[in-house]
Amino acid sequence: MNVLGIETSCDETGVAVYSTTHGLLAEALHSQVDLHAIYGGVVPEIAARDHVRRLLPLIERVLRDAGILRPDAIAYTAGPGLVGALMVGSGTANGLGLAWNCPVIAVHHMEGHLLAPMLEDEPPDFPFLALLVSGGHTMLVSVHAIGAYEVLGTTLDDAVGEAFDKTAKLLGLGYPGGAALAALAADGRETAYVLPRPLLDRPGFDFSFSGLKTAVMLLVKKTTEAGDIDRRRADIAASFQRAAVDTLVGKTLQAARHEGLERVIVAGGVGANRLLRSEMANRFPGRVFYPRMEYCTDNGAMIAIAGALRLADGGDADEIRAQARWRLESLSAPGDTR
Ligand code: KG4
Ligand code: ZN
Repeated sequence: MNVLGIETSCDETGVAVYSTTHGLLAEALHSQVDLHAIYGGVVPEIAARDHVRRLLPLIERVLRDAGILRPDAIAYTAGPGLVGALMVGSGTANGLGLAWNCPVIAVHHMEGHLLAPMLEDEPPDFPFLALLVSGGHTMLVSVHAIGAYEVLGTTLDDAVGEAFDKTAKLLGLGYPGGAALAALAADGRETAYVLPRPLLDRPGFDFSFSGLKTAVMLLVKKTTEAGDIDRRRADIAASFQRAAVDTLVGKTLQAARHEGLERVIVAGGVGANRLLRSEMANRFPGRVFYPRMEYCTDNGAMIAIAGALRLADGGDADEIRAQARWRLESLSAPGDTR
């Protein structure tokens, strides 16, 4: 069975065809980063309009590359995300589903991220712990099976990707700044400054990144006033990255121990961070799984495979959805009525 995956929840138009027998057949991604960069963040209206322009041509290209005329099913991101952007994917998927007379599956964006490691040659077995780290989310999820998700912890304020982006902005890097900040950190000393590791010494598995962000802001201000900022930018970036990674890895280890889980997956845009990957691999006693770099950030392949796995487990066509907010815990196993 061939499943067409469509992702339009934020600023990437992602399309892919996943075959349940042959794996990923074709994919395409259009990033809107250049359109939003001058505004220093994603402008929802501009995002939605660009999805309208890009989506159908990308679908045509991906079907051609996959060598098929039409898929057997369509999976689309139905939330959470920017509602105008989601409506483009939802409307297109449901329109094509009507024309092609095939099932259309509404996929939760974070379920897409947490199933992305399933695209790799050695996918993790259930159960596993998922650390989901993106521009909008920071979550620890105990994953028992497809659709059986227990959220153990989440951020009380900023997402970790947001903290990377805000720190990058303070250091004069472009938007989104996570990858640029990591590159700058490579030239700095991570022990140069002592920054907070929020909530690491407290019970529970929640995160908080606003205190770390404020500490960096004050540090940048003080260093700028001392006329020292140019010499210190890389040190600040490295110290920030170390504090953020220590916090993420520390909480993940605590949660895995508490739940008795021996496998961890790290997914979402910040999962592309090399220090996070190497620290998790070095410190977690069990096995760590990651999607490859390009499937950490938003893409159509993770939505296609999430739809395919749901269909394989007895999932069926869904009601038409596009919702800004959608709790991951509210999902149920495919085949169960929601
Ligand atoms: O999952 P994603 O593509 O979009 C959302 O659903 O949010 O994640 C984007 C986030 C941004 O905050 C970006 O700065 C961050 O992932 N990011 C990184 C790296 N690459 C992307 N953060 C740290 N290190 C990286 N190498
Ligand atoms: Zn995402």
